[in-house]
Formats: sequence, C-alpha cells, structure tokens
Amino acid sequence: MSEPVAIESVLSETRVFPPPPEFAAAAHVKSFDEYEQMYAESMRDIPAFWEKQAGELEWFEKWHTVLEWNEPFAKWFVGGKINISHNCLDRHLTTWRRNKAAFIWEGEPGEQRTLTYLQLHREVCRFANVLKKLGVTAGDRVALYMPLVPELAIAMLACARIGATHTIIFGGFSADAIRDRVNDGGCKLIVTADGAFRRGTEVRLKDAVDEAVKQTPTVENVVVYRRTGSKVAMQPGRDHWWHEIIETVDAVCPAVPLDSEHPLYILYTSGTTGKPKGILHTTGGYLTQAAFTTKMVFDLRDEDVYWCTADIGWVTGHSYVVYGPLANGATVVMYEGAPNFPGFDRFWDIIERHRVTIFYTAPTAIRAFIKWGEEHPLKHDLSSLRLLGTVGEPINPEAWMWYREVIGKGRCPIVDTWWQTETGSIMISPLPGATPAVPGTATRPLPGVMVDVVKKDGTKCEPNEGGYLVVKHPWPSMLRTLWGDDERYKEAYWSEIAGHYFAGDGARRDERGYFWIMGRVDDVINVSGHRLGTAEIESALVSHEAVAEAAVVGRPDELKGQAIAAFVTLEGGRTGGDELKETLRAHVQKEIGALAKPDDIRFTDALPKTRSGKIMRRLLRELASSGVVAGDVTTLEDFSVLEKLREDEE
Ligand code: WT7
Repeated sequence: MSEPVAIESVLSETRVFPPPPEFAAAAHVKSFDEYEQMYAESMRDIPAFWEKQAGELEWFEKWHTVLEWNEPFAKWFVGGKINISHNCLDRHLTTWRRNKAAFIWEGEPGEQRTLTYLQLHREVCRFANVLKKLGVTAGDRVALYMPLVPELAIAMLACARIGATHTIIFGGFSADAIRDRVNDGGCKLIVTADGAFRRGTEVRLKDAVDEAVKQTPTVENVVVYRRTGSKVAMQPGRDHWWHEIIETVDAVCPAVPLDSEHPLYILYTSGTTGKPKGILHTTGGYLTQAAFTTKMVFDLRDEDVYWCTADIGWVTGHSYVVYGPLANGATVVMYEGAPNFPGFDRFWDIIERHRVTIFYTAPTAIRAFIKWGEEHPLKHDLSSLRLLGTVGEPINPEAWMWYREVIGKGRCPIVDTWWQTETGSIMISPLPGATPAVPGTATRPLPGVMVDVVKKDGTKCEPNEGGYLVVKHPWPSMLRTLWGDDERYKEAYWSEIAGHYFAGDGARRDERGYFWIMGRVDDVINVSGHRLGTAEIESALVSHEAVAEAAVVGRPDELKGQAIAAFVTLEGGRTGGDELKETLRAHVQKEIGALAKPDDIRFTDALPKTRSGKIMRRLLRELASSGVVAGDVTTLEDFSVLEKLREDEE
C-alpha cells in the first residue's frame, strides 16, 4: 500500500462560510458551540449516546446490552427486537403522516406517481406476501436488479418486513456481475424488470438476468416488474409478472419482530483484490444511525421535500433515499433517469416543479452541470432550496463555490458528507445550522463518531500532516463482516492499523480540526463517485484470449473524477490496434458493466514489476496522469520496462 501524498493547493483555502443566521435559528443544532458540546458529551460515553438515539425508534422489545464488542466484531442493541419496515411505515400510520407523500416519483419519460405512507405500506405488505408465497422466509437472500422505480423500494421494505436479506445489484452491471453476486449471496429469488429507461433508450434488465440464471443454482423464482413494456422471455414456473402475482395475495402482512442484529442487506463493493466484497449491514444499529444522521445532517423537518439523486443500487440510495428518510417520515423525490434527458435542465426542472427544499448529489454530477453551462439552472426557479449536499469523492473548492452560488444562490448551506458503503451512514459532515463551512472539507465528525488521522503505527498525525483516516470506536451502522468471509473482513479493514478500522482513505486534519479527505490510498479507482477495484477490471481484460497481462490505474478526469487507464500486454503473436482496443472495451463492458470500460488502453511489451513480481501501479498511475514518472523506482525489477513505456508515451 502506498503512502498517501498530501494534496498541495488546498492548504491555501481560507474562505469560511458560517451558517446563515436565519437557517441556524431554526435548525436542530443551532450553533457550533452546541455541536461541540454535543460531540464532547458523546465522546464521554459513546454507547450511551447511541442508546439515546436508538430510543427514537419503535422497538418490539428493548435491548439488554447496548454494545458487545469483540474486536473486530460488533453487536449493537443486543437482545432488542425491531423491524425496519415497521419503523419506516406502520409507525407513521397512527399519525397525520398517513396521508403524507412518502415518494414523489418521476419516470424518465415524464410520468409521475405519488405514494403516501398509507399507500406505500399497502404495497409493501402485498409484495411481502408475494415473497412468502414464493417460499421466501426470514434469513433467505433476495437479489434486486431493477430500475429506479418505487417498486425497488417496495421490494426492499417487503424483504425487511419478513426478515429476508436483500442484495441490490446496480442496473448498470452485466449478466456476469449478477451471476457472481447472486452466487456469493446464495440468493433464492431475483426481482427484476423487463428493462429500464436511460437517456431515452432501453437497458434490457430481464435479458441480463436470463443470462445470469443459467449459472445460479440457488435461484428458484424470478419476479418481473413491467416497466418498459418491451417483449421479454418468461420461463413458466420460474418467472412471474409482478402485476399478476400481486393480485393473488392480500394486503395484510404483520411486520416480523427481528433480532437487532438480523442481516438487513448485503451490498457488494470493490476491494483491492478481484472478488467484490459483500458488505453486510444489520438491523437495529443500522437504522439508528441512518435515521439520526438523516435528521441532523439534512436538518430534516416535516415540511421538507427531500431529493437525493443517488441510484438505490448504491449505499447512498439505501441509507438516504429509503431507510433514513422514511424512518423520519420525510417526503422523498425519486427520479428514474439521466440528468440530461430530455434536456440539460432536467434536475432543475424537477426542483422547480416539486419545490424541492433539500438536494443531495455527487461532485461528479456537479462537474457535469458546470460543463453544461449555468444557463440551464438559471432558467429555473430554485428558490425552494434551503440546503445542498454532496457525497462520493472530494469536491474541489471551485465546484463547491459554483454549487453554492449558482444552485444555492449564496443562501443555502452545503453539507460535504464523508462516509462509505462500509460505514452505512454519514460519519464526517458539517451540521448545516452549526458548522462554519470551508470549501473542500467534510469538516468534523458527527456526534458519536470517533475518527482520527494516524500514521501506520497508529500514532496521531500532526495538524496538516497526511495520514490514514481511521475510526477508533465501533459505530452502530458499521458493517458487521463480509458475507461468508470473516477472515477477509479482518484482513481488509482491521489489519493495516492495529486496533482501528482503516477505511482506505488518506486524510489530513487542519488546525481547526477539519478533516480533508485526500482520496484512496489503495488500488481502487473512484469513477463518478463509485469505487471500482482495479483487480476486477484487470481480470476482465485478462479473460479475453488476446490478453496476457493487464494493469489498470486511475488518472484524473475533469468530469468523472478519475478515468480508467489500462496497460495491456498481449499473447504471443497478437498485435494491438484500434480495433482490438474497441473489442477489449466491449469485453469489459460485458464482463462488469459500462462504468468499468477503460477510457484508455495502451499496449505494451511488459509491465513494470517489483522483484517480488507485484505490478507497480503507482508508476503506471504517474505515467497515465502526467506522462512522467517522478516517484521512487528503487524496487523496480527491470528499468528498461519503464524506459520502454516512456518511449511509447512520446
Ligand atoms: C469512498 C467510499 C458513501 C457513498 C458514496 C460512495 C470517497 C465518499 C466523500 C467525501 C471525499 C469521499 C472516499 C470513500 N468519498 N464521500 N465527502 N469526500 N471522499 O461510497 O463506493 O463506498 O466509496 O468514497 O474515498 O472511501 P463507496
């Protein structure tokens, strides 16, 4: 693992934006002093702090122990019985919120649907009964491979209602990726759709599932939601139309009291070695922290119209489209499609029409908005907005300023939220009514969260000294393990820095105690806010018969954050060329999905390696980014390889 290198220019960032006084006056946390007191108090007794937050939820039975910690395995609210679907739905039905909009959904072609809490509850109960009818019981795994339609959230909540563990596979993944995830999870059922709309064309989801299930022995049934209306093959006995099977069940389905540590979902994410990691999240602790952070970070109140643009296939969608907001009884906007369809102003049009008050998106999207031009947001009335958020990667200060001025008109606080699939919830973020914001930093940890920047030996870094970002105390929404692989869980997160959870990010803390995230220190690329393992893309390349060896690195990209550059050596007798480059790009798309497609492919005779045979991706990274190699090359086995690569560059 390479040492994180400090990012240079940000040190000069001196602009400070305190919360607007009117915002602060009405906020849940009203001043920085109040935040600091809350934080200090939470650090005196972290379990006691989270116990108080857990008390905001409805439990069927109270826990007897707040935290059981056998490093690195945590159990929160042990002995407690709870159901997430009950907390997101039934709890609101005894209040005025029963007829409040839970989801305001807009399809890419333009249709709109609103589901109140009462209506959503009914649909969830019915689909839970469909799951039961198809033999799904508590503890079974169900894969969801769907477009961004309300039925995806309905399926999630239906699983949670009966204790089935869901695993959502992002709709951009290929048949092979579905197969691997479904097999790793041992899923019994897949819920999918005929297709999804993306930028006006259809992405065929059921076809990919058909391909995948040829090699997934555990799958017994497939439920197909009709979205695009195009023709798909239905295998009798195995495949069921959602709209048909839903008519065969009733709408009564009590929420099952589940153990606080019952597995809620598995979400696969990239690691440094080939196989994706099945991040496991459980029930009581996860919801406690997801609900608490949604309320505090977004300063959520009943009148808000909240829109998080993430796809539900990523963790942001799990925690901040579905579970966190619904647990708070919020009104959530969901939009199915692309931000530039039919025009570049689609998002701003949605904000204007639905009077969105809270808008949460990613830096990669903001960079695209900047590129498309400010005339698109300026055409629309965005005066309903009161708070903006970002997540997924470091936001460069200039993009932050644009977001603040052009979208927020200088009125709206911005919350830059740092977290991960593994953390389950936001860990470092400003509180919008309390924390003075500085462009480019996620600022301070939230109450109850103990993070630090340390050296490899675990000692604290000096202010502004770059180091490893670690979490020093278990937190309720932390991953519990990697599905079926406790050893890899220990190895991946708890072995780098003794006694601490290491997140994979480099960071520094400035003199105000603000955290500046410096990006990943391992071989993981962050493309458009999504982590991709280089090893996975490399295996996909090598699986093509022409390829002998491949090394993949990220290079800076204005729009996507990082672009994917691949260095490829070919099997004897094969020669590279533009045609083969295209073939390989298509091959990776088939193996993993479009978002893993290399932007550049370079054919070379050999790859730079260490004496122990490890590919020195750092050198390739430098080469792909700047065209030169400036770093240390002493461990390089064969210098001529580097010379050769440099020549190819010219
Ligand atoms: C990685 C986690 C958590 C939802 C989205 C991605 C990077 C995330 C920030 C931020 C700087 C950030 C980190 C992290 N990241 N948020 N506000 N500032 N970097 O989830 O795919 O699990 O990726 O995204 O590198 O480790 P993920």
